[in-house]
Amino acid sequence: MRILLTGAAGFIGSNLLEKLLSLGNEVIGIDNFDPFYPRKYKEKNLENAYKNKNFRFIEADICTPATWESFGNNNFDVIIHLAAKAGVRPSMVQPVEYNKVNVLGTNYLLEFARKNNIRKILFASSSSVYGVNKNLPWLVDEPNLEPISIYAYSKLAGEQLCEFYQDYFDLNITALRFFTVIGPRQRPDLAIHKFVKAIIEDQTVTLYGNGQTFRDYTFIDDIVSGIIGAMNYDNNKFEIFNLGNTHTVSLLELVKTIEDILGKKAKIEYLPEQKGDVPFTWSDIEKSRNLLGFNPQTDLKEGIGQFINWYKTLV
Ligand SMILES: NC(=O)c1ccc[n+]([C@@H]2O[C@H](COP(=O)([O-])OP(=O)(O)OC[C@H]3O[C@@H](n4cnc5c(N)ncnc54)[C@H](O)[C@@H]3O)[C@@H](O)[C@H]2O)c1
Repeated sequence: MRILLTGAAGFIGSNLLEKLLSLGNEVIGIDNFDPFYPRKYKEKNLENAYKNKNFRFIEADICTPATWESFGNNNFDVIIHLAAKAGVRPSMVQPVEYNKVNVLGTNYLLEFARKNNIRKILFASSSSVYGVNKNLPWLVDEPNLEPISIYAYSKLAGEQLCEFYQDYFDLNITALRFFTVIGPRQRPDLAIHKFVKAIIEDQTVTLYGNGQTFRDYTFIDDIVSGIIGAMNYDNNKFEIFNLGNTHTVSLLELVKTIEDILGKKAKIEYLPEQKGDVPFTWSDIEKSRNLLGFNPQTDLKEGIGQFINWYKTLV
């Protein structure tokens, strides 16, 4: 297949990219090296992919019309749209920037697809759209979405825009709600990356709240399998899938698991809860199992172990 992948240099994008190339696909990746975290991580993420002749990289911003004009009709079979401003807390500081990239950027992409008759599109959504809904575990057809951050709103708006384009312009769009993704190349703003770094460097681990917030941590290779399952799934209506691990783990349990693997205790400091953070996430993946063959294999301990092995190659 000929694939356009946005956000190719990021954590999920670069892992997916290598898998797509290993399966013999041709991939054109776009990324603007957004300064949310240092460019050096993203350049390193792309090193393996550059060795593959089926990969071409374009440094470009999805919010710039010229980016899309420069593509013309490239006969893409599918667009996988991962580029976004990620992260809940910073979205509360930069709301306009988040909506610009995550909503307007998505709109530019959908227009490009519509004009060039590229019908298959996968959109990276997030478990954050469920917000503070208490009907756990979250079913994908849960009607009451209760987002509490700008990031979550921007992802929900992205989903709704996709649904609109599906209905009115006859595209073929799937939204995938990822649940906290873990593993090699995880972003430096995310908990496991921050905690591992702090413990190794004898720094303080800051926990917001009392350690009793819960997350459904999902390993990157499982997420990649789910995305590929969705790529091969033939839908003729707008569909949403949860990609989660179906186990929810407390923040204190997370820290304890990292301590056990590193063989070192964390110095913990407790601070008040942060605006936008939800108390729990927990996926129901029955629909994804049945229709995408999604079957997560890797537990938290193994996932953190693989992250630490990768982290040690950086330092
Ligand atoms: N990591 C998670 O736990 C998680 C959970 C739920 C949803 N998601 C979603 O999955 C996707 C990938 O997340 P990630 O963790 O790999 O984040 P990431 O920040 O590592 O990757 C996103 C990439 O998009 C690029 N980008 C940002 N703005 C851009 C723009 N205007 N033009 C072109 N490229 C741009 C960034 O430079 C970055 O490389 C995002 O859409 C994110 O919202 C991630």
